[in-house]
Amino acid sequence: MARLLLIIGGGIAAYKSLELIRRARDQGHSLRVVMTAGAQKFVTPLSVGAVSGGPVFTDLWALDGEHEIGHIRLSREADLIVVAPATADLMARMAGGHADDLATAVLLAADKPVLAAPAMNPRMWAHPATQRNVAQVAADGIGFVGPERGEMAESGEAGLGRMAEPMQILAAIEAALTTDQPLSGKHILVTSGPTLEPIDPVRFISNRSSGKQGHAIATAAARMGARVSLISGPVAIPDPAGVTVKHVESAREMLAAAQSALPADIAIFAAAVADWRTPDVAGEKIKKAKGAPAPHLNLIENPDILRTLATPGSRRPDLVVGFAAETEHVIENAKKKLAAKGCDWIVANDVSPATGTFGGTKNTVHLVSAAGVENWPELTKDSVAERLMQRIVETLEKARTPK
Ligand code: C5P
Repeated sequence: MARLLLIIGGGIAAYKSLELIRRARDQGHSLRVVMTAGAQKFVTPLSVGAVSGGPVFTDLWALDGEHEIGHIRLSREADLIVVAPATADLMARMAGGHADDLATAVLLAADKPVLAAPAMNPRMWAHPATQRNVAQVAADGIGFVGPERGEMAESGEAGLGRMAEPMQILAAIEAALTTDQPLSGKHILVTSGPTLEPIDPVRFISNRSSGKQGHAIATAAARMGARVSLISGPVAIPDPAGVTVKHVESAREMLAAAQSALPADIAIFAAAVADWRTPDVAGEKIKKAKGAPAPHLNLIENPDILRTLATPGSRRPDLVVGFAAETEHVIENAKKKLAAKGCDWIVANDVSPATGTFGGTKNTVHLVSAAGVENWPELTKDSVAERLMQRIVETLEKARTPK
């Protein structure tokens, strides 16, 4: 039984929120409801109040009424905030940090988990602006349920954009309320992003890694209660919440940071470490002289961070996971890498340009270990992270179970 704060946005799916309120109350949850001005065009505060059995809050400025309480208290006195329907406009305002009505002010002041159930016309959902806002809101730590594919309220329209059904939202609420932290007490080291190897003060060697997969792993591990040390190369994405982040540039800096983060129970090497660097970094910008030959770059191999930390010894983490980004013979190469690096698992993925993996949000991976190969379906990088951490939890539980 939890205290839910439901924020109803202004969309036709608002009528389903009445059913959601009823179902949530059946489960023993108590509800307070905030309605946007738009929401009140679709359902009235009177009917929402009748179903929720309590006051309905609509105005940021009316704090003198009998039941009125401020936006800070509204968010503080809830265990979970649910936005249903989360309209395109409401999510745009959430992404922008607006606070000009009660719903957005509550969301900006929230120190509790937030779950959003988007609902809109499929074209609005697919619009790059909405997708940008959804990505931002997700990066800010907000959970999502739906949208679903299907018939729209507008006749003749179908596609991705339907709000999830009330029972589905309720299941997501229950999941979000579960404070199961199976990795609490564990220290997890994660490397992420590319490395940057200088050539001179302005030029460098690097690669296209965005850090999205490694950062998603760090986020998932922290959510499951682990203490997470994330060593990140230069990336354009924000630091995950609740994680200790060390920013580095070169492979040698990444190795030193990873070593000083030890001991760790589990280490996951998702970084795309540059294989080579030049040993003779020029102190000044290398000049292009007319008629002179192009400079010859002398390259030497970088330290292998994964292999170094997977070497047997007292400081080796109990479980060492490497990644293998391949453009051909993905599984065959991953199996070879497992042996060559001395790690326990390899998460292998195809990064040939046609897959859009580098920089994209999706990933199709294979989990390769001594036990065999698991082929996972195409998933978002967040879901790959979630599933990988889930597999780690299962493995730890198995190891604890007496044979
Ligand atoms: O050898 P390759 O670069 O394909 O191996 C990939 C795996 O090894 C990844 O887990 C990556 O993070 C790790 N690695 C590393 N240090 C290197 C090269 C790769 O930790 N110098």
